[in-house]
Amino acid sequence: MLTDSYHRQINYLRLSITDMCNLQCIYCQSWKEIGKKSHQEILRYEEIIRLAGLMAQLGIRRVRITGGEPLLKKDVMYLIEELVKLGLFEEISLTTNGTNLSRFAAQLKNAGIARINISLDSLNRERYHQITGSGNLDDVLLGIEESLRIGLSPLKINMVVMKGINDDEIDSFSRLTLDRPVYVRFIEFMPIGHQKILWEERYLPTTVLKERLSAHFNLMATDGLVGNGPAEYYQIKGAMGKVGFISPISNHFCSRCNRIRLTPDGHLRLCLGQEDEINLKVPMRAGASDEELKGLILQGIRQKPGGHQFKLKKITGRQMAVIGG
Ligand code: 5AD
Repeated sequence: MLTDSYHRQINYLRLSITDMCNLQCIYCQSWKEIGKKSHQEILRYEEIIRLAGLMAQLGIRRVRITGGEPLLKKDVMYLIEELVKLGLFEEISLTTNGTNLSRFAAQLKNAGIARINISLDSLNRERYHQITGSGNLDDVLLGIEESLRIGLSPLKINMVVMKGINDDEIDSFSRLTLDRPVYVRFIEFMPIGHQKILWEERYLPTTVLKERLSAHFNLMATDGLVGNGPAEYYQIKGAMGKVGFISPISNHFCSRCNRIRLTPDGHLRLCLGQEDEINLKVPMRAGASDEELKGLILQGIRQKPGGHQFKLKKITGRQMAVIGG
């Protein structure tokens, strides 16, 4: 069992395979703003597979492929198949913005992806376009329907709630769960990276969302998925799906944190909300052995911070698109 210095079991890896994204969300200004990383700087698939394998040997059991937008990366199915072939992970999942999902859903399922998460912040076409800079809502909706059609479920839809931008849509998002087996999860807005909007003006705590939803729906507390992360789930009476709340700010779950992240440029990121990282790429490319790399990973995990400090400081060093959302 892999544990850190706060006795937390670390068994979950978020693998950000690219910093590229076809969207430019108002709260995550990626490469257009900060300059894209060169091809050389980004880990090759063999390097990702090697590091993921070493982490699995140390005790990582589940892995989530993320980005940037992972479905933009060439041959992503190859990576998934190779991760499956390692035979070391209990589950491999993927997070996507859904814009290319209708084309990829069946392949993802065949390659061995257990579950997918879709990031979607508005169900209104014009607003979706504004929030994402360029996205087409219909593409995402098509991706959702196709995933459900082929049985890629449970499907999670993540919505970042921003006051005055999309908080009037929490009812319509909740209604998606009535006749679909989807988990709609409302995520508290976090101050990370370059954002076109002010966090202080846009943040809304979960308590407010629950109050508002309770005025329209009969929300019953319920379990989430087994082995699942930090969301707290409710079900509208009679609904097929569930509504979840993720509260990294108002009720942070750092004491139960089980995860580490690998950035596209080969850094082991220990906490979303603290800049601490261990560079694995440089030693790996300089010829480090498996044992040496495992030593560095363990050293990182020992240094994993006890918790984030979002309320005290804004994390500006890296974009969400680069840390791996
Ligand atoms: N606050 C909350 N959630 C965020 N995400 C990206 N940036 C932020 C932020 N600042 C979300 C994405 C996606 C998930 C991976 O993280 O929208 O749903």
